Amino acid sequence: MKATTLLRTQHAETRKLFALVTSDSGDRKAAAREVSRKLLAHMIIEQSVFYPAIKEVDADLVLEAFEEHAVARYEIRRLLEALDDPRFEARGTTLKELIEHHVKEEEEDLFPKVEKALPAAKLEAMGAEMDALFAELAKADMDTLMQRSRRTGEDGSRNAAA
Ligand SMILES: [Fe+2]
Ligand SMILES: [Fe+2]
Repeated sequence: MKATTLLRTQHAETRKLFALVTSDSGDRKAAAREVSRKLLAHMIIEQSVFYPAIKEVDADLVLEAFEEHAVARYEIRRLLEALDDPRFEARGTTLKELIEHHVKEEEEDLFPKVEKALPAAKLEAMGAEMDALFAELAKADMDTLMQRSRRTGEDGSRNAAA
């Protein structure tokens, strides 16, 4: 699967989970935990494979994406600390809106540029690499995901060497 197709599919899944987090029915706590895990794993594969490979396509958009991930990590932490708290809804909504903005920029600005700039074979290879890494990360616990997301998210230039 093409890298951008894989990432778009994961965005769509995140959107569904956020609808559960911000709904009045169902297990909102379980949905919050699941969306946090999925978002952290998604950010890790972008930060360690995708963003370093596409830096030349649009350096400014990639730097901005790293910043938005850092803010998302901060709010994921706050949401997970408020699972039994009246602030749960406010934090869930804040994270949802932040991610909606970030995903819109990726899908509407960044991905079309990447799809134009990179050969199909490269997009396929990156997609396969990220798919495998995401599957591996599905087994990790929340602390590991948080740490690894922070480590690969600190600085784009360091990721390439990691
Ligand atoms: Fe992202
Ligand atoms: Fe993304």
